[in-house]
Amino acid sequence: MTNKLQIKSFEEYKEKYALSIENPEKFWGDVAEEFQWIKKWDKVLEWNFQEPKVEWFKGAKLNITENALDRHLETRGNKLAIIWEPNDPKQRFVRYTYRELYEHVCQFANALKEKGIKKGDRVCIYMPMIPELAVAVLACARIGAIHSVVFAGFSSSALADRINDAEAKAVITSDGLNRGAKQIPVKRVVDEALESCASVETVIVYDCLGWGPNMEEGRDYWWHEVVAGQPKSCAPEPMDAEDVLFILYTSGSTGKPKGVVHTCGGYMVGAAYTFQNVYQCDESDVYWCTADVGWITGHTYIVYGPLISGTTSVMFEGIPTYPDPGRFWQIIDKHSVNQFLTAPTAIRSLMAHGEDHVLSYSLDSLKILGSVGEPINDEAWKWYHLHVGKERCPIVDNWWQTETGAIMISGIGNISPMKPTFAGYPLPGVNPVLLDQEGKEIQEADVEGYLCIKSPWPSMLRTTYGDHERCRVTYFSTYDGYYFTGDGAKRDQNGMYRIIGRVDDVINVSGHRFGTAEIENAINTNDNVVESAVVGFPHPVKGQSIYAFVVCEKAPEDEVHARGEIVESVVAEIGKIAIPEKIQFVSGLPKTRSGKIMRRILRKIAEGEVSNLGDTSTLLDPNVVDELIEGKL
Ligand code: WT7
Repeated sequence: MTNKLQIKSFEEYKEKYALSIENPEKFWGDVAEEFQWIKKWDKVLEWNFQEPKVEWFKGAKLNITENALDRHLETRGNKLAIIWEPNDPKQRFVRYTYRELYEHVCQFANALKEKGIKKGDRVCIYMPMIPELAVAVLACARIGAIHSVVFAGFSSSALADRINDAEAKAVITSDGLNRGAKQIPVKRVVDEALESCASVETVIVYDCLGWGPNMEEGRDYWWHEVVAGQPKSCAPEPMDAEDVLFILYTSGSTGKPKGVVHTCGGYMVGAAYTFQNVYQCDESDVYWCTADVGWITGHTYIVYGPLISGTTSVMFEGIPTYPDPGRFWQIIDKHSVNQFLTAPTAIRSLMAHGEDHVLSYSLDSLKILGSVGEPINDEAWKWYHLHVGKERCPIVDNWWQTETGAIMISGIGNISPMKPTFAGYPLPGVNPVLLDQEGKEIQEADVEGYLCIKSPWPSMLRTTYGDHERCRVTYFSTYDGYYFTGDGAKRDQNGMYRIIGRVDDVINVSGHRFGTAEIENAINTNDNVVESAVVGFPHPVKGQSIYAFVVCEKAPEDEVHARGEIVESVVAEIGKIAIPEKIQFVSGLPKTRSGKIMRRILRKIAEGEVSNLGDTSTLLDPNVVDELIEGKL
């Protein structure tokens, strides 16, 4: 792929943007010409947001891995595709050229086929951040199997839910993983999960730590054994543009996490188009995104976007603070990273360790900085700009979601103007609007509204796995004819967007999404718990933190112990990433007469803003509020 898709000036952006909204079919049809298709489309777009039904590049055939691998072999065969930096800086890093990556992917794809995995089968990937994770993802895509990557920090119960929902036939995992000074027994979690997963026939285990885990005869196979002797080429499965490429689970306001479904053609076009524009990589650049492939950012901006674009992508196994808080900056100097993408929460946690760590490195190679996953506050923006970017590198703030598949609103490299804490302008092809309470489009500047998208874009979700009605209700029924993002936003006089945050019951902790219902369900598994209500409250490093109000059958005698039990249940049901920061035992929750919990009041109490609770007269028992305020932690 050449850089032909890159916008080169703000003027050009404005022209392209206008064209993309006026005539999306022409705009995206032209963009799609830059990719390799087995057969081109009959029609660029068909859609309605009522069912919803959205089809891009209908009738086309492709395999996304031909675009990410094969097509680079001639011109970039010896160029680095992946630089893998291990958790421990003393361990050697690993580099794969495009040819080597191609061969590894083909070998593993052949191994999957030998184990009976076919087009359309679901494969769950629960792995550390090692190159084999990218290989596994691409090998699934190669043979048309649907990957469902589950972040390796989720508990066995959360993993089992995801495996069962997708009815995965195989799981790809490792013996254990390195995370800072800790080692985590990954295979043991898989074994526990599989006790309740009937669909899984095959488990492939990568030997990461030499631990010799339990291997179940006839079910579990070593990665190195299944790939041994496999041919280094594997014909790509021809996929319909609208065939499913992957499922990725994410949390919403209600119920269990849902499987967001992305399809081959549109996702490919969206991932590569946005990557090439926002990050403006030159041919020799080294790009690094610190996310985990377990989240959408890793899918689109570690694996697919950079590789389809022929960029060298750094993959990091570790954490920002190990062995010390200079680790990110050391890696940037070590591999001469040019584009760097991380989350505000990482920046804030490193800020807390002072400037010395960052000032010990030159960071001369950096050209563009990215921020993603949550709103970036002014202080973190300034620190990032001054100490990391040396006031030389623009910061592109990427707003998007698991459901959107690719960046929607963001600065474009050095090209579009930036404004601290503003994500900026919509990318070409993205048609955002702000709606008021009544669902009317807000035209005025500086007014907060509900952020919705008015027309389809190629990388949008097509459904939620196994439950299309849930997709319709969640995203397309709040405002008729619009995709509702769940975020609140403002637009300034110049048309730049500032994302305020979620307006629904989704909490964003360190850039990870949780639904209040899902955490409450975990807490409620405790025998002594009658009910609970969870809200988010501002946290200086994590952005938001979890505050749980818990009603017990018997008031706990030992609150410390009772809190420990609640924490344990959250760890067991979801994982450590969802542990509530505060747990307050209460005798009742503020409810309306119809029994609805008034979260607005709980949020205010958690934030400590108790002087202005608004109208509490509709409460069933207004006295509970006083008790809650008194007992606030
Ligand atoms: C939610 C989506 C973006 C991919 C990783 C997270 C929040 C995301 C930003 C940003 C302000 C942001 C929104 C969104 N969010 N990026 N740049 N500025 N908020 O994907 O887990 O699906 O979460 O994260 O609230 O709805 P996700």
